[in-house]
Amino acid sequence: MNHKVIKASIALTLTAVMLLGSTNTQAYPPFVKQSARFGAKDCTFCHTKPEGGEGWNKRGQWLMAEKDKRKADAVDVAWLSEFGDKATDASAATVQANDKWAELDAYHNVMSQTFHPAEDGKLEPIRKRAGELADKAKQWLESKPPKVYESADIKALLVKLNAESKALADAIANGAKDEQLKKDLTALHDRFHEIIGACREEKKKHQ
Ligand code: HEC
Repeated sequence: MNHKVIKASIALTLTAVMLLGSTNTQAYPPFVKQSARFGAKDCTFCHTKPEGGEGWNKRGQWLMAEKDKRKADAVDVAWLSEFGDKATDASAATVQANDKWAELDAYHNVMSQTFHPAEDGKLEPIRKRAGELADKAKQWLESKPPKVYESADIKALLVKLNAESKALADAIANGAKDEQLKKDLTALHDRFHEIIGACREEKKKHQ
């Protein structure tokens, strides 16, 4: 359906609703106008169907629940000023429900900027940034994972990664030799990829 057709069918429905003219239905079309300041454009602001009537979305259901709660005779669109916060929370939660994990990305950044030079024999970056890498591991461990990565396995691997990142930083502070450093960083990099693998598996379960 294109926009014109939708508009035309809404107009038709409106006319039908008005013609039917029960006191009940007559009260509804003004809802759109009254709730325009909350962002309403058509009946789907509260209804699941473009023509309104039976079937309500979260906002519509909330309004009906409010009517009961307040023991009001009719729905008052002005109540929506209180729904606002919850609605924004709900949509923020939907955005959060994907696989974005900022602390993972932060750890990965430092890891790739230190490990890849080390592969070429340049150990300066990791010697400089091991403390930062350990901090990122701690923040990652303490962060709240996106829903798709909530698992005891991933958590257990993060506990290891955190301990090993800290151990590497301590070893460098205590003057670790290049040889040892390369070995430890490679092991840490493997651990990181073990976690990425576990995340991938966990995500599959949620699809
Ligand atoms: C601001 C939210 C909102 C908007 C916008 C809105 N409605 Fe409603 N509508 C409701 C709520 C809430 C009810 C239930 C009211 C009640 O139970 O007292 C309802 C009830 C109805 C009903 C009665 C259904 C039944 O079975 O009881 C009709 C018909 C209806 N709306 C049509 C429309 C149409 C057509 C539009 C668009 C022009 C529209 N509504 C826009 C919130 C809205």
